[in-house]
Order: sequence, then C-alpha cells, then structure tokens
Amino acid sequence: MSNKKHVEMTAEDLQYQYEYMAKVKNILQHRYPHPPMAHVHSFGCQANVSDGEKIKGMLAEMGYGFTDITDDADFILYNTCAIRKGAEDRVFGNVGELQHNKRNRKEMIIGLCGCMMQQKHVAEKIKKSYPHVDLVFGTHALHKFPQLLYEALTQKQRVFCVEDSDNVIAEGLPIRRDGRFKAWIQIMYGCDNFCTYCIVPYVRGREHSRRPEQIVAEARELVHQGYKEITLLGQNVNSYGKGLEGEVSFSKLLRMINDIEGDFRIRFMTSHPKDCTHELIDTIAQCEKVCRHIHLPVQSGSNRILKLMNRHYTREQYLELVRYAKAKMPDITFTSDIIVGFPSETHEDLLQTIDLIKQVEYDALFTFIYSKRKGTKAAEMDDPVTDKEKSHWFKELQSAQTEVGSRHNAALVGKTLRVLADGVAKLGKGYLTGRTDSNAVVDFKAEEEWIGKFVNVHITKALSWAVLGEIAD
Ligand code: 5AD
Ligand code: SF4
Repeated sequence: MSNKKHVEMTAEDLQYQYEYMAKVKNILQHRYPHPPMAHVHSFGCQANVSDGEKIKGMLAEMGYGFTDITDDADFILYNTCAIRKGAEDRVFGNVGELQHNKRNRKEMIIGLCGCMMQQKHVAEKIKKSYPHVDLVFGTHALHKFPQLLYEALTQKQRVFCVEDSDNVIAEGLPIRRDGRFKAWIQIMYGCDNFCTYCIVPYVRGREHSRRPEQIVAEARELVHQGYKEITLLGQNVNSYGKGLEGEVSFSKLLRMINDIEGDFRIRFMTSHPKDCTHELIDTIAQCEKVCRHIHLPVQSGSNRILKLMNRHYTREQYLELVRYAKAKMPDITFTSDIIVGFPSETHEDLLQTIDLIKQVEYDALFTFIYSKRKGTKAAEMDDPVTDKEKSHWFKELQSAQTEVGSRHNAALVGKTLRVLADGVAKLGKGYLTGRTDSNAVVDFKAEEEWIGKFVNVHITKALSWAVLGEIAD
C-alpha cells in the first residue's frame, strides 16, 4: 500500500450529518406552511453535476422540493466551476442578479459551493462584495452540508467553510439522480497530476479512490433500478486504486462492473494518456458492456507544449496508444480536449496539433482557448500571443475537426447501430436522439415510449454533428 491516506467519513460523522438533516427538517416544518423549494444549479464538469446530485439528495432528505425557477426558491445554491475564467465570470454575473431575489424574500438563503469557493481570493471577494450570499463552502466541505445549512438557517451571521482539509470520501449520503436511465458514479476524487495550466488539483485536493466494493454495490443497485448506462467518473480514472488496500486497478474495476448481470453499458471519463495502458485497452476489448469509446484528452500535438504542460507523454506515445486500440477494436472512437494558445505556443505547434487530429480521426473535440488561472505554474509563463490571434487559431482547429467529424459520420451510413434513446431530438417532435456505443449522436424517427431503451437504428444520412436513421426492428 502506498503512503497515501484513504480518508473515509466515519459512521459517527455520517450519523452526525443525518441528525443535522433531521434538525433542518424540523425547522423548515415550523417555518413554512408548504415544503420549501430549492433551486440547485451545477456549473462545469460531470464531477460537479454528480456532487450536485448528492446535494439534492441531502436537500430532499431535509424536506425540500425542487424548482427550476429562482424566483420561486427559498434556497438557491450555485455549485460553481473554476476551470476557466469564462466559467467564473458566468457565476459572478448570476450571483449578482440574485440580489433581487433576496430583496423580495428576506428569509431565503443564497449559497455558493464547489471549485470556485475553494480558492481563497474568490471566497474573500464574495465576503466583501456580495453581502446577499449567506452560505459559502468549498468542495472539501460537501459532506458537512447539512450542518452548514443548519447554521445558515439558525445563525444571524453568514456561514463560510472554505478551508482545505483531508478531503474525506463520503459514503452513505443520499443521492437524488437527475437521470432515470443514465447515471454517474464517482469512483475517485481530486487529482495529483498538476498539469501546469489546471486549477483542479488546487481546488479538489489530492487523488482519493473509493473502495471497489462500494462502487460495485452502487452500480449493482443502479442496474437493479433499471439504469441502462453507468458512467464512471474521475479526473484520471486510469490511476484508480492508488492508496487502496490490495491489488485494485481501473482494469480490475471495469471487469467487476462488467460482471454485473443485466442489459446496460459502461462508460468512463476522464482517461489520462500517461496512465492509459495496453492492459486497459485489452480490458475494454474483452468487456462486452464497456463502450467502444475513449475520451483521451491530448491537449496539444506538440511535444514542446506537452512538456511545458507537464503531461508526461509525447505525441508519438499517444499515437501509438491510438493505433494499438484501433488494431484491437476497429470500431473504437476517440474524443479529446485541446487547449489553444497555451503560453509560448506558436502557429507551428498548432499545425502539429491539427496533424495529430487528422491522424487520430477524433469523433468529436472539446476545444478551449487557454485561460490563465491564478496559482498555477502556467500563469507565471510568458504569454505573448494576442487574444485575436488565438481566436483565429481556435477557428482553424475547429474547421479541421469539422472535416474529420463529417468524414467519420459519413462512414456510418448504411450500418445498423445499437442506440440508447436519450430524449426528443432538436429536429423536433417525432424524432428522438441517442448515442451509439462508440458515442456517435443518432437522430431517428420514433415514438417517445422508446426513450430510455436500446434501439437498433439503420443509419441513412450523415450530418456534420450527427447522423440520421430509422428504427431497424
Ligand atoms: N484553460 C483552458 N482550458 C483548460 N482546461 C483545463 N484548464 C484549462 C485552462 N486553464 C481544459 C482541459 C481539460 C478540460 C476539462 O478543460 O482541456 O481537459
Ligand atoms: Fe487538470 Fe491535468 Fe488533473 Fe486533468 S489531469 S484535472 S487537466 S491537472
């Protein structure tokens, strides 16, 4: 076992939080004639969405109902994201607007939580400039939420809980899932990689894995409830198991979940290329429930930039992994994240990224213009390229991907693919949308009763963002 600490919430601490949930429920029953309403909005990545589901689970236990409309809410909570400046600006804008809500409903509580709040300078700014915010807590305090809400409801002063801590793993808290047939399971928390541009290790703390038996039990329960797709979440799922007793790896965990009986599929994200092994690719090939799709963020196709980013792989090693996976599974697809305009990046570096995109033939790309994050190493690097130049490069990269994506979709025409129907398509009534195993978006004509079910769809036409099809059986 490594010297990493595995910190799980104790049974007493859990009991303590359940007692606070009961106390809050009692207060609310006396304060409101009807169940009070909560509005919880999670910004950013799936880890945040998944944390939001835990917060909603606790709120439901405390007697709250839920509303999408902030004007109807007695408790508003924004679960914030710090990954790029744009995400932070959006939160500040939204929080500013909540002043009106507070003016109209003096008794209401406004709360902020998540990654932004784990940064000292942000918490200070909220303290000083946003006096209408009553409750602030960071990612490290999620498991204490019932106690913090109790304090916000009963104390005359504002409640701030933003210190760094051991970042305990909370097992046994209630979850209120947003989806009825697709579910997220966090298998690990935090990140140890310190990519030089990224704020995540500073706001989510060190990497901690949940115990495999807890994860498998959660997955089994979801399958029992009828869930059809389970996505395993972590900042770097490939290093799952570090610090746990015994020999557990991500490959082993995948096999354990694959062994659960039932008709469901398994996805996972995010994979770090430095920890993605041939063994993992072999496991995906051998596990029939694991989707033939890997989200494998490359960030850049230039070795010089990859080194500055502290990514610990080269473009050659990345391309070798992709070749190995395609040889094992010809139908496998890849998606990726790319940062444009990292400090000191040149057009020559960008051309190397575009070349890599063409070689991998990504199914889809998430492209971001570099955003300087206070406290990271890259924030200290010289960044001479103008914003205007960076946005030209961004467009150049996107048009290269549009070409690759269209070719990819065209190759699906004529095939019959298994699709999990997600919901009504943007095309309008009468059309549903869903995804194949390899993550292609498929829009097809079907009745709404198919939503949440697997359907075989014959692909008839390719668009640039999706393919169209008809039910085959
Ligand atoms: N600027 C731009 N993009 C970033 N990402 C992470 N940090 C930054 C940043 N400072 C992107 C990376 C990561 C994705 C989740 O967000 O591409 O994979
Ligand atoms: Fe950020 Fe890198 Fe960790 Fe991903 S692996 S969360 S990009 S530091």
